[in-house]
Order: sequence, then structure tokens, then C-alpha cells
Amino acid sequence: MKKIVCENYDEICRVAADIYVKQLSDKPDTVLGLATGSTPIGLYSELVRRYQAGEIDFSRAVSFNLDEYYPIKKSHPQSYDYFMRDNLFDKVNFAKTMLPNGEADDPGVECARYDAELEAAGGIDLMLLGIGLNGHIGFNEPAVSYPLGTYLVDLTQSSLEANSRFFGPDETQPNRALTLGIGGILASKKIILIISGAVKAEIASKLFDGKIHTDVPACLLLLHPDVTLIIDRAANGE
Ligand code: GLP
Repeated sequence: MKKIVCENYDEICRVAADIYVKQLSDKPDTVLGLATGSTPIGLYSELVRRYQAGEIDFSRAVSFNLDEYYPIKKSHPQSYDYFMRDNLFDKVNFAKTMLPNGEADDPGVECARYDAELEAAGGIDLMLLGIGLNGHIGFNEPAVSYPLGTYLVDLTQSSLEANSRFFGPDETQPNRALTLGIGGILASKKIILIISGAVKAEIASKLFDGKIHTDVPACLLLLHPDVTLIIDRAANGE
């Protein structure tokens, strides 16, 4: 895992955006894996800014998001579908964007459909990941074993509490999600992991102590040959 330590969150966003500019220039028909949560928001703003400045073009790129709550309407402001449109898709020019469908009647059928779409697209060239407080990536929660393909997961109390801040008092927070499995993530050709803030320092330290903690899903990234971790000093424990 290559590690880039940044002064602060803004620098993380600029450094990560540089990687996207190069990736899209080298391979305009790139398949991007995209993430939600608060960490990628600044990166998405930076990508929008660079798109408006003519520095990056997504017109031949396609994207697959990591996860989506289940069940949830796409029109729900807390759905990841809505989040992605709001922060990125409505502001740049992707050829095609995909997320697991939180409105699907049958989650098993939806997971198989998503995996088939991803396979047909040739897999992910560049995957973006954040990390949950409990070490989850996508919504792969700490477990004894990890499904390879996309699956329906019961969210842990830690993730429900961490994400409850986004839901208003009258909004029901789904306690399940559809997520790309560990196999789908590790099959990505390149991975960028972004981690910001002192609140993430403890979980981030699990990546640096020379062990694979099997109860920290992000540690499985240590097995991948091309992961770039972009972390700020606060999350790096400085
Ligand atoms: C959610 C997403 C993850 C994300 C995590 C961390 O649970 N499913 O993909 O990495 O939140 O979010 P944040 O960046 O807000 O800490």
C-alpha cells in the first residue's frame, strides 16, 4: 500500500483529483468505482471544478458505485443514488453511471444483475474507497467471512449510528444495504483509499501495524498490489 500523507483534507482532495485527471487522460473509457459518505464530497467538488475548467472529461467513462441502502427510493435525499446525482453526476458528463438499485423487488436478483453489469464492463479500473469507523469498506462490515460478490448486508450498530447524522427525525434509516463484495473491490485494477480526520486515526492505525486484522475489512486491501492511501496528518495520528 502506497501512502501519501497530506497536510489536511483539502490537500487530500487535490492529490486524489490529480490521479483522476491522469487516469481519464490515459484511459478516457475508464470504469470508475465510486464511494459515498462525507469523505469523498470535497473530491467530487474538486472534480466538478476541474471539469468546468476543461481539465477532465468523463464523456467516455462509466461508473459503478459501491453500495446503496436497501430498501430506499432513489428520490430519498439520503439515498446514495440522490447523493451521487447531487454531488457529481448532474454536474459532469459521465457516459453511464450505475448503483445497486435500492428499489429492486428482489435483492438477490439485483445483486446478480449488478455483478453481471460490472463483469460486462470489464471490471473496475480505479476504485475509490473511504473507511467506516469500524473499518468497513463499501458496506462490508466486520465479519468472520466476506462474500466475494454483491450482497445484501445487515448494517452494524456502529454504521447505523455513524450514518444516523444524515437522517432527519421523520426519516426512516434503512438497516440493510446492497454492497459490492470484497471480491468485487479487490478485483479493481487500482484502488484509492482516502482517510481524513482524527476520528479515523484509531481505525487507520490498523493498516500500519504490520498485520492483517481480519475483523477490519479495510485490512484486506493490504493484499492488493496497487492501493494508494491518501491520508491527512490528523488521521495519520500526528
Ligand atoms: C458509508 C459508506 C462507506 C464510507 C463510510 C465512511 O458507510 N458506505 O463507503 O466509506 O460511510 O463515511 P464517512 O466518509 O462519512 O466517514
